[in-house]
Amino acid sequence: MLTIENLTVDLGGQNILHDLNMAVPAGQVSVILGPNGSGKSTLLRAIAGELPYGGSIRLEQHEIRAAKAWELAALRGVLPQSTAVAFPFTVAEVVRLGLRAGVNADQAGIVHAALAEVRMQDFADRPVQDLSGGQMARVHLARVRAQIWHGGPGTWLFLDEPVASLDIGHQLEVMQIMRAFAQTGGGVVAVMHDLNLSTMVADRMILMKQGKIVAQGAPGQVMHDRILTEVYDCPVRVAQAPPDRAWVLPQAFGAAS
Ligand SMILES: Nc1ncnc2c1ncn2[C@@H]1O[C@H](COP(=O)(O)OP(=O)(O)OP(=O)(O)O)[C@@H](O)[C@H]1O
Ligand SMILES: [Mg+2]
Repeated sequence: MLTIENLTVDLGGQNILHDLNMAVPAGQVSVILGPNGSGKSTLLRAIAGELPYGGSIRLEQHEIRAAKAWELAALRGVLPQSTAVAFPFTVAEVVRLGLRAGVNADQAGIVHAALAEVRMQDFADRPVQDLSGGQMARVHLARVRAQIWHGGPGTWLFLDEPVASLDIGHQLEVMQIMRAFAQTGGGVVAVMHDLNLSTMVADRMILMKQGKIVAQGAPGQVMHDRILTEVYDCPVRVAQAPPDRAWVLPQAFGAAS
C-alpha cells in the first residue's frame, strides 16, 4: 500500500504540491494525469524519496523520509521523466546498473530477460549513445525492471511518462509490462498524458491540476467531459467505444464546447 497524507512539497521557495491525500493499493496500475506543470513529476519524485516533503508518504511499512537508500532500492524502481547517461556505456551495462548490490541470482540472466521484455536484447552490446529516443526509453525501463525483477507484493514501479516517446506497438508492450507487474501483486504508479491509453491500462486514475488532486478513482469516475474540460482547459468529450471502454476525442479547433 502507498498512503499519502497531507503531502506538501516546496521547491525553489515555491509551494508546488498542496495538501495531497491518496491511497494506492498494490496489485493495481494507478495512473497520474494532469496538464503540464500540474505537479505529476514532483509527486512521483517525492514518493520516490528524492524530495523533502511535509506530511506523510508511507510505502508498505516505511515512511519515505526515514527509509534507508538500500531499503528503498529493494522496494521500488523509479523511471524518471528523462535520464541522461554521461558515460559511453553499452545497453547491457546500463541495465546492469539497475541490479541491486547483493542480488545473488543470475545477474546476466536478469539483464537479458529485462532487455528481452522490452525487445531490446539484440542491442545488448551497442553503445547507448547510438540508440533512438524510443529505444533509449525502453532500455531505461529495462534498467528499472531489472532492479526489482521478480515483482510480487511489496515491490513497486514508479514510472514517469513510460510511453511518451514510443510508437503505438511499443506503447502497448510497455502497458502490458505494467499490467503484468501489477498481476504479480506489485504496485505500479505511472504518470501518463494520453487519456485513451490511460483508460486502457489504469485501475485507478489520479487527476492533478495546479499542485492539487482534483479527482481520483476508477477511470469511470474520473473520465467525464466536465472534469477533463475543466482540468485541461480544453474542450473534450468522453465517449464509449465497444466493448465499453471510454475514449476521449478533442473537439475540433473552433468547435463550440
Ligand atoms: N526545482 C524547482 N524549483 C522551482 N519550481 C519547480 C522546480 N521543479 C519543478 N518546479 C515547478 O513545479 C511545477 C510542477 O512541475 P512538475 O515537473 O511536477 O510538472 P508535471 O506535472 O510533471 O509537468 P509535465 O507534464 O510538463 O511533465 C511546475 O510549475 C514547475 O515549473
Ligand atoms: Mg513531468
